[in-house]
Amino acid sequence: MTYRRSLLSCLCLAMWVAGGAAHAAPDGRELYIEHCSACHQMQGHGGIGLPLPNAKLRDVTDDYLFKTVRLGRPGRVMPAFQRMSDAQVHAIVKFLRERSKTTEPTYSDAPIVGNAEQGKVLYAEHCVKCHGEDGSGEGQGTGVTGSRERSFLVMPASISNSGFLQSISDPMIHHVIEVGRKSSDMPAFGAGKLAAQEINDLVAYVRSFEQRQVEAAALAPDERPTHIYESPYDFDTTVANVKAALTGANFRIFPDRLVEEGLIDEFSVNTRQIGVRFCNFNVLYGMLKTEPRLGVVLPCRITIMERKDGTVLLAVPNLRVVSRWFNNDELVEMWDRMEQTFVSIIEEVTL
Ligand code: HEC
Ligand code: HEC
Repeated sequence: MTYRRSLLSCLCLAMWVAGGAAHAAPDGRELYIEHCSACHQMQGHGGIGLPLPNAKLRDVTDDYLFKTVRLGRPGRVMPAFQRMSDAQVHAIVKFLRERSKTTEPTYSDAPIVGNAEQGKVLYAEHCVKCHGEDGSGEGQGTGVTGSRERSFLVMPASISNSGFLQSISDPMIHHVIEVGRKSSDMPAFGAGKLAAQEINDLVAYVRSFEQRQVEAAALAPDERPTHIYESPYDFDTTVANVKAALTGANFRIFPDRLVEEGLIDEFSVNTRQIGVRFCNFNVLYGMLKTEPRLGVVLPCRITIMERKDGTVLLAVPNLRVVSRWFNNDELVEMWDRMEQTFVSIIEEVTL
């Protein structure tokens, strides 16, 4: 199969997966794999994106998730998915809800009344060291969340971002401050540390953050973080071909990891979905020296999945898109070279 043909089938499939499916209800899981897993990981461990663990899902509403996907976090790495249909965004939210086995929490709609001036004082005392002066988390003392390995350098989300402030309700902000986030370093300020009114004052202060009016960085339809290709072969042959092609290209292959491993009990794991992880240590070393945050997207991975109708799909990271997240020309160059390797591997596999 020529590159052109695989690219074409990739585009058609992408349209089918993401847009066209006129008859079938959108599949939230597939949409998540395609649009979100590159940053948040399949199990929601986070990486370039924040972790999305069950404990967090228990605290956030579907409306918050819906708006976060739709509005993104303008000026940050989290894209605004504006071209998805409502049904598709709902399907992703439903997938996240079901994956986490949580029920949606309910919060009152009542806006919280607090004194932002008081809140500012409390913020300087308790919050600034992690969230920064302006709430963007770029300031002094920020960087690593407790839930990540230290080398991963994931920042706390910006709490002054317009996408964040439009997605979250006052009572939800109150709740996060009160109970913290067990999955990270965000401390709980309730239970004797701060009075309810002080938390209200903090909510008022967080609300008062100047909302930076940054254009929402919507991904163009051809700028998905993942390419989807269809394999002309059955599942086992495709897996074998991918491994052979990678070995031929001097990549070292890591043990297989099932996409859903650790996610659900071992007997229900779909063994027809495998992430083949691989790397070339020389290339990897050069890249990590240029951008240590790459640790979260490497080693590279090709995901192979079998659909119910027996067709086999290959999901490959779109390195051109991924490399731009880091704003680093040197890296973009390396990744463009890497992308060529990826393309030739896919050609070899689907030939
Ligand atoms: C390009 C990487 C990237 C992609 C793709 C991406 N995200 Fe994110 N996501 C992020 C980052 C980074 C943040 C943290 C925002 C910040 O730094 O202010 C985030 C934040 C979030 C949050 C808020 C988490 C919290 O603690 O409140 C949710 C929910 C979320 N993303 C869901 C999704 C979903 C669902 C998709 C797919 C439709 C997706 N993301 C795609 C990078 C990404
Ligand atoms: C020790 C560092 C630390 C301190 C101190 C801290 N935070 Fe956080 N905060 C975090 C981290 C890390 C996260 C991201 C948690 C996650 O997504 O797992 C977070 C998340 C949040 C969120 C939710 C953001 C989102 O996207 O879901 C809010 C709101 C927040 N913090 C407000 C505050 C306020 C107000 C204070 C002071 C009373 C405070 N934090 C103190 C580290 C801190």
